[in-house]
Amino acid sequence: MNQATRIAVLASGRGSNLQCLLDAIARGQLPAQIVGVFSDKPDAPALEKVPPHLRWARSPKDFANREAFDLALAEAVSSCQPDWVVCAGYMRILGAGFVARFDGRLINIHPSLLPLHKGLHTHARAIEAGDREHGASVHFVVPALDAGAVLAQARVPVLAGDSADTLAARVLQVEHPLLLASVQLLCSGRVTEQKGQILVDGHTLFKPLTLDSAGRLDV
Ligand code: GRF
Repeated sequence: MNQATRIAVLASGRGSNLQCLLDAIARGQLPAQIVGVFSDKPDAPALEKVPPHLRWARSPKDFANREAFDLALAEAVSSCQPDWVVCAGYMRILGAGFVARFDGRLINIHPSLLPLHKGLHTHARAIEAGDREHGASVHFVVPALDAGAVLAQARVPVLAGDSADTLAARVLQVEHPLLLASVQLLCSGRVTEQKGQILVDGHTLFKPLTLDSAGRLDV
């Protein structure tokens, strides 16, 4: 009997964050199994990273409205009975119905130091704002975009001469260990979230955990 934590992943694109989780599972560093990969982009490369029976992909265009797509997605995710739902490069806003259904077990990785730079084009905006530091955040999902409680963050410097692309590449290098360490922590059963409050080992988390250079969170 497999007791591994069941993880559903939502992804719209490349899937490097998903790959990082798959690699960690293969190395025995993450006691979890990916029970499904779900996409709003039927040609997303992320889907190719798991066998066909674990893939679900539909175009929102094929549904009458946003609610109908969200409901189909929610039903599909629910059917694989995930313990956690991880948005890893999922580029579509999740409706309130979906969020409520997976309340407290739905997380997202966002490429900025939230609450800074919610939404798209975060790297260009960090450069434009003159930020000295940028990074990534793992947060619980609420209906408002990128607004849920932040579990953990990783920081990188913004260097003179950075373009959005060079900065994005630097952030991606810390996104992978950040997501892995966060999911490892979730799988350990030490984290709960309710009404915007994160508890770690039963204690309120007052500020996000930080990833150190060895890829560990300061829990
Ligand atoms: C990541 O930068 C993630 O933070 C953002 O989209 C990118 C997805 O990368 N939301 P990948 O698909 O995991 O390679």
